Formats: sequence, structure tokens, C-alpha cells
Amino acid sequence: MEATLISADDIKTKIDELAARIDADYADREPLLVGVLKGAVMFMSDLARALSRPSEMEFMACSSYGSSTTSSGVVRILKDLDRDVTGRDILIVEDIIDSGLTLSWLLKNLQARNPRSVEVVALLRKPDAVKVQVPVKYVGFEIPNEFVVGYGLDYAERYRDLPYIGRLKPSVYA
Ligand code: PRP
Ligand code: MN
Ligand code: MG
Repeated sequence: MEATLISADDIKTKIDELAARIDADYADREPLLVGVLKGAVMFMSDLARALSRPSEMEFMACSSYGSSTTSSGVVRILKDLDRDVTGRDILIVEDIIDSGLTLSWLLKNLQARNPRSVEVVALLRKPDAVKVQVPVKYVGFEIPNEFVVGYGLDYAERYRDLPYIGRLKPSVYA
């Protein structure tokens, strides 16, 4: 069905590295983690537990993909933040940056709410697929431009529960 691209162990090691960098950078501030549903759920929960400094969690849902394998570029807010983020140090938590359209839209949207800072941590980035350049401070893995699933990432809502990241065989979505 699918081949492993990044194992559960490699994901864990990478999250520990990212968490150490974030701990150091936020030594005197408490980040407000903003997870982007639904793809970021696994990454968000593991990252939050890997941080040694306290953080708070919020979630937003804004979908651009639907059940297609390519980005439509249309971003919809499905669930907004539950509270005011004025003066907060927002750290957007994303599973993957593909075209960059979701993140570029989200950055503008959150910056308009007058936080003290907004940074991004993304587990995966596809450099070949970037249509919009977005500043991302923390990136876990640069991956090839292939359709990947697992560890939160779906194809038509399936495979999010895999503990690893796998390549989806083109025959599955062809
Ligand atoms: C996926 C992924 C990112 C976004 C990346 O979310 O989780 O949020 O697309 O694509 P982009 O860089 O081309 O904008 P999706 O819209 O599929 O929703 P989901 O997280 O609920 O699966
Ligand atoms: Mn998503
Ligand atoms: Mg999706």
C-alpha cells in the first residue's frame, strides 16, 4: 500500500531536536502553539510533550485540499482560535508545507491580530512544490515532491493514524 519515507524513530529524534531549539529560543517567553487541524495533530501533541518549557495550545482548521491530492489555493477557516492572541508569541505548528498557500494565508491572518511574534514550525517541507515563499523558522525534514501520508497527513481522510510517514503509491489515487 505505501512505503516508509520517515520512520517513527526518525520522527521522534527530529522532534527532540526541534524542541531543543524552540526551548532555547523561547527561554524567556511562553509560546502559544497554534496547531493547524487536522494534519498537525500528531506533530502538535508530540512536540508539546518534547518541549521542556511550558506552552499553551490553540487550534485552527483551515482546509485548502479537500479530498484532492493537489492544492486548490482556496483557504477556508473551518475553526478559528478560541481566544485573543494580542501580545502573544505564536508558534504555528504545521505538518507539511506543500505549495505554501495555506501558511502564507495563515501568517497574514494571525499577524493581523497583533501578536508579539509569529513563527512557524513545520515537520515537513516540499521545496520543489513551493509556489509562495514563506518564512519558516523550524523545519523538520525537506522531502521530495511526492504525495505522503501518515502521522497526521491524509489522503481523503485516511492514513492519518499511521505512526510513520509513507509514500502513497500513485495507483492509490490515480
Ligand atoms: C494540508 C497540510 C497543510 C496544507 C499544506 O492540509 O496539512 O495544512 O495542506 O498545503 P499547502 O502548502 O499547499 O497549502 P489540508 O488542507 O489537506 O487539511 P488537513 O490538515 O485537514 O488534512
Ligand atoms: Mn493541514
Ligand atoms: Mg489533508
